[in-house]
Amino acid sequence: MNARITPAPAQSDLEAFWMPFTANRQFKANPRLLTRAEGMHYWTADGRQVIDAVAGLWCVNAGHGRREIKEAVARQLSVMEYAPTFQMGHPIAFELANRLAAIAPPGMDRVFFTNSGSESVDTALKISIGYHRARGAGQRTRFIGREKGYHGVGFGGMSVGGMVNNRKFFGSSMLPGVDHLPHTLDISHNAFSRGLPQWGMHLANELERLVALHDASTIAAVIVEPISGSAGVVLPPVGYLKRLREICDKHDILLIFDEVITGFGRVGKPFASQAFDVIPDLMTTAKGLSNGAIPMGAVFAQRKIHDAFMQGPENVIELFHGYTYSAHPVACAAALATLDIYATEELLTRAAALSPTWEDAVHSMRGLPNVIDVRNYGLIAAVELEPRAGKPGARAFDVFLKCFERGVMVRQTGDVIALSPPLIIERSHITQIVETLSQVIRETA
Ligand SMILES: Cc1ncc(COP(=O)(O)O)c(C=O)c1O
Repeated sequence: MNARITPAPAQSDLEAFWMPFTANRQFKANPRLLTRAEGMHYWTADGRQVIDAVAGLWCVNAGHGRREIKEAVARQLSVMEYAPTFQMGHPIAFELANRLAAIAPPGMDRVFFTNSGSESVDTALKISIGYHRARGAGQRTRFIGREKGYHGVGFGGMSVGGMVNNRKFFGSSMLPGVDHLPHTLDISHNAFSRGLPQWGMHLANELERLVALHDASTIAAVIVEPISGSAGVVLPPVGYLKRLREICDKHDILLIFDEVITGFGRVGKPFASQAFDVIPDLMTTAKGLSNGAIPMGAVFAQRKIHDAFMQGPENVIELFHGYTYSAHPVACAAALATLDIYATEELLTRAAALSPTWEDAVHSMRGLPNVIDVRNYGLIAAVELEPRAGKPGARAFDVFLKCFERGVMVRQTGDVIALSPPLIIERSHITQIVETLSQVIRETA
């Protein structure tokens, strides 16, 4: 079969699209164009099959080209392509919220819909401030993020985020009053940990220091990713998240888990909160919610947070926030079909069963040239490479390019190669991914 179903654009046709988070000139000189996807694979414009070791962008958890999702989307488009959710409603938005509440961590049964992870984060930050205000603590407006955190690209998410390249151009436009916890990546203590690192729980106590500096009465919320993905897979040390929870409770500070990548089965439970047995007050999600098929995000809130807003005259809007496409009917249809697949194929827990195989496979890369760390949890892994002198990121970028040429799509961030395959992955795919990556690392000086 000819896999090229969309003709590849000519070089000159690539100029108008200003690509996100991309080295545009490098890409356009040597484009990597994907034109079809099915199961674990993409096909390129020149007809090559490429195994997807990153679930698109950590989102296609049920694998590509799922018939059930396509059919649900087509059906919804033919029945009602759009309906507003401002002062109006449509049934499947409520159905989806109920389905999500049923798999959520305990008590997180109120759901606010968005269209992306960035929107979920900014929504959760606004809800935090609104919650405190509704309780008469309107001076609680500060946020505490974390170094190396990634919370999307809105002004709120950028401000609480801790990745320098995402911040430095926009420095003077950050939200005021934001501070950051130290990150927890320390390979001098934790290199080649299998699963969660043992060292580093004490880093959570830095929150007490920030509370002492700013006073708890000024702080609305702490936001962290249970596992940071974009910064190159940073795992929480054993006990770290529980300690954050304790300190937040002590000072009446909300805890937000950004589960945009860890949500929907990535770590062997529906959410990392459940895997780590730490329940936040707010949880931001997107990506796996709709299997990447239609953009969608959701913020889960503890009922007490939601209920704090439900005061005043009943005809008055309680939260002045929302998006034209919050709970878009087509996205709701895609998400419901996705949840059905997750349930039928038990994908929200499959990563737990596969994780020992995955862990052994990725740790086989220990000892390869320039490999200075391998980290893993659930169906996530990172291989960190020694940076080339004076050229940070260059070695890993070469590895990324060569893997793609050899039929494996990985993700590069700094000198880290990150892996987060669709949760339908089979053992043979794991072998192929790790063998190709190992070979490429061996060949890349
Ligand atoms: C933890 C986290 N939060 C937020 C986002 C932003 O999501 P989006 O790109 O959908 O806005 C991402 C994206 O990778 C993420 O990993």
